[in-house]
Order: sequence, then C-alpha cells, then structure tokens
Amino acid sequence: MLKYIVIVLLTVIPKSLLQVTMSYEAIFVSVTSSENAQPIDISNLRLIGRQRILNGTFEILEDVDDTNYQLSVDIYSNAARDGNYKLIPLRVSRQGICTIFKKYGFYLKDCIKNGINTDLHINTTSCLFPKGRYYLKNVTLNVQNWPKIMQRGLCRHVGTFYKYDVPVGTLNVTSSIEDRAPNVFGM
Ligand SMILES: *[C@@H]1O[C@H](CO)[C@@H](O)[C@H](O)[C@H]1NC(C)=O
Ligand SMILES: *[C@@H]1O[C@H](CO)[C@@H](O)[C@H](O)[C@H]1NC(C)=O
Ligand SMILES: *[C@@H]1O[C@H](CO)[C@@H](O)[C@H](O)[C@H]1NC(C)=O
Ligand SMILES: *[C@@H]1O[C@H](CO)[C@@H](O)[C@H](O)[C@H]1NC(C)=O
Repeated sequence: MLKYIVIVLLTVIPKSLLQVTMSYEAIFVSVTSSENAQPIDISNLRLIGRQRILNGTFEILEDVDDTNYQLSVDIYSNAARDGNYKLIPLRVSRQGICTIFKKYGFYLKDCIKNGINTDLHINTTSCLFPKGRYYLKNVTLNVQNWPKIMQRGLCRHVGTFYKYDVPVGTLNVTSSIEDRAPNVFGM
C-alpha cells in the first residue's frame, strides 16, 4: 500500500510495454484542484482520448521547497462507484514537499521523465521546484510498482498543500481501478 501512496504523490508513470502483468490497471478519471490553489495551477491540464492521457501544461506559481511548502495526502475509496467516497486509514502525514520528493522521488525517474513527459527538472541537491510553466505529455498511470492486490472501483487521492502551516490548496487525483483487459497474445 505504501508504494501505492508513493505513486499517488508523484502521480504518474507512462505506460510501459514491458510492465509486469498485473491483474488490474488504473486509468485517470479526473484531476481537479480547489479554486485559486497554491502553489500549482493545473487549469491547463486535460485528460484526452479513450486512454485518458494526462496532457497540457501546469504552472508552479512561485519557487517551492521545504522551507515554504508542506504536503499531506489522504486516500479515499469508492468501490461502488456511486460517489460515496470513504476515507481509508492510510495517509501521508504533512511533511515538507522536498522531503516527500526525496523519500519517494526514485519512483519519479522512471515515471515522468524529464525531456520526454515534462520539461520540469528538479535538482535533488537544492530540491527546489522552480517557479514556471511546464508541460506534461503522454502521461498514464502505470501500476507496475503498485500492490499485487487492489480494490476495484474508484480511488481518490487528496493532496493538501500548506504554506507556512496554512492550508492553501487541494489537488485531487481520481483513478479507476479495473480488471486488466486480457491482451491479444493471451499471456
Ligand atoms: C506515449 O507513451 C507510450 C508508452 O510509454 C509510447 O509507446 C508512445 O509512443 C508514446 N507516444 C508519444 C506520442 O510519445
Ligand atoms: C476532493 O475530494 C474530496 C473528497 O472526496 C472532496 O470533498 C472535495 O470536494 C474534492 N475537491 C476538489 C477540488 O475536487
Ligand atoms: C498536449 O500538450 C502539449 C503541451 O502543452 C500541447 O502542445 C498539445 O497540443 C497537447 N495535445 C493534445 C492532443 O491536446
Ligand atoms: C543543484 O543545486 C546545487 C545546490 O544549490 C548546486 O550547487 C548545483 O550546481 C545544482 N546542480 C545543477 C545541475 O543545477
């Protein structure tokens, strides 16, 4: 489950043809944020096509690091897909954004690749998310490093950003966990 939380934080991995066979797949349903959320503006990100690929641009509104911003993540499940989300007893407690990135960031290097899926580069020494507008393209959820067993249904991760201990924005990533379609080779 921890690995799942991690992915959640770092959000996304491009789908690899070589991924290990899992019994399920995860597809983006929505990515939303609260109004005037800081420090990230995602209003120019879209989910496109049947595969619901995350694409577009996002803006980091000011330089972000451990000194000014913290993040916590709550996870909700909705197996019945009826909109009745239940908080599950797993959360990532509030920590500096760069602390979270340093703890779990190794997932990122195979996920959202600099130069391929984004032009955001994070220097892990200074651990700064520089103010600016960046692209995301061809990003899908890859469950390769997720738990072998996952509850089917809707899953929602709610990230809350804190600036100097004051909540300043939430970012929701909702995904659908589904039985994996058997592939044509019957493997
Ligand atoms: C998108 O990613 C997939 C899997 O990583 C890859 O096969 C495909 O060529 C990529 N498409 C584009 C337009 O980059
Ligand atoms: C995020 O999800 C929570 C829990 O389901 C919900 O209460 C909140 O309204 C959502 N916020 C946004 C911006 O979608
Ligand atoms: C994907 O995002 C890029 C970068 O913002 C943009 O140039 C491109 O038009 C988008 N593609 C689609 C299909 O929306
Ligand atoms: C990364 O940040 C450190 C400390 O601020 C700096 O010395 C180094 O030159 C930076 N590296 C790159 C590749 O920007």
